Amino acid sequence: MNLADLNKVALAMVTPGKGILAADESSGTIKKRFDAINVESTEENRRDYREMLFRSTEAMSKYVSGVILYDETIWQNAKDGTPLIKLIEQAGSIPGIKVDEGTQALPQCPGELVTVGLDKLAERLKKYYERGARFAKWRAVIDIGTGIPSMTAINVNAHALARYAALCQAAQIVPIVEPEVLMDGDHDIDRCYDVTQRVLNKTFQELRVQRVELEGMVLKPNMAISGKKCPKQASVEEVAEKTVRLLKACVPAAVPGIAFLSGGQSDEEATAHLNAMNRIGSLPWKLTFSYGRALQAAPQKAWSGKAENVAAGQRAFTHRARMNALASKGEWETGLEKKVA
Ligand code: 13P
Repeated sequence: MNLADLNKVALAMVTPGKGILAADESSGTIKKRFDAINVESTEENRRDYREMLFRSTEAMSKYVSGVILYDETIWQNAKDGTPLIKLIEQAGSIPGIKVDEGTQALPQCPGELVTVGLDKLAERLKKYYERGARFAKWRAVIDIGTGIPSMTAINVNAHALARYAALCQAAQIVPIVEPEVLMDGDHDIDRCYDVTQRVLNKTFQELRVQRVELEGMVLKPNMAISGKKCPKQASVEEVAEKTVRLLKACVPAAVPGIAFLSGGQSDEEATAHLNAMNRIGSLPWKLTFSYGRALQAAPQKAWSGKAENVAAGQRAFTHRARMNALASKGEWETGLEKKVA
């Protein structure tokens, strides 16, 4: 492992004014997104959609530091035969790859999940590196509900995240470590805070035990936020203040950067939260975005599967990427939302 090079890539991923596009929806998830816009999820449509994003030259070159791809996409070619991964590289953005293989029910823990995909991971990482991937992602899922999460679920998921991260670094690939505490329940922000604190502490303990170099990774956490079904929704300021406090308590300063998931927040909420955190300032790590839904909902709607809508889809994507890029520097304001180019 060359730690200096891993650190260079990790720092580039969290460059202020840029963030990560999570375009790594599995076949099942992208089908759900396409169903919502009445587009059939064929290999060609998935290619056309992602080609539209990667050919958004302004967004990709100015605001997107890296793109997380799904296995199908990393091997796919654009309509003119250029590998999609080349479009990303040509824009000056870094290609990454989702390497987990989804979740399975965790035995003895009703309602809880463990992320799988460690088998043959070293071999797969080698192939992805040769193809051009310089970072990877693995997502663990922790749900909040009555009696959950269990310590068992937190422990096994943290262990798997650290196993994955160590294998990535051995393959000269920067691991994005993503322990996601879901915001689907009716819990309040303080319960989210407590659970996320336990999850992050366990995750960093495992990373230390398994000798993962913190300078060569990026953390992708949820924010401290109210559950979607909670009657009392925390304000933007409260989310920002509690998330920063939580991360300061749990994330060592050796970690170069933190790139949040959006997790079901609306586009503007995700932007406003990131912006408010960066306004707090004096943080030991860079704070940016690694959004899936909060970057793609608008372009998906504008495109709706029609070739004549590609320019509109690209405009919508560029706008959201720019808004979040400004938020990564604490320079976003709600008034800017109206000025869609
Ligand atoms: P969302 O921003 O839609 O939560 O997706 C980010 C991601 O990569 C989840 O693994």
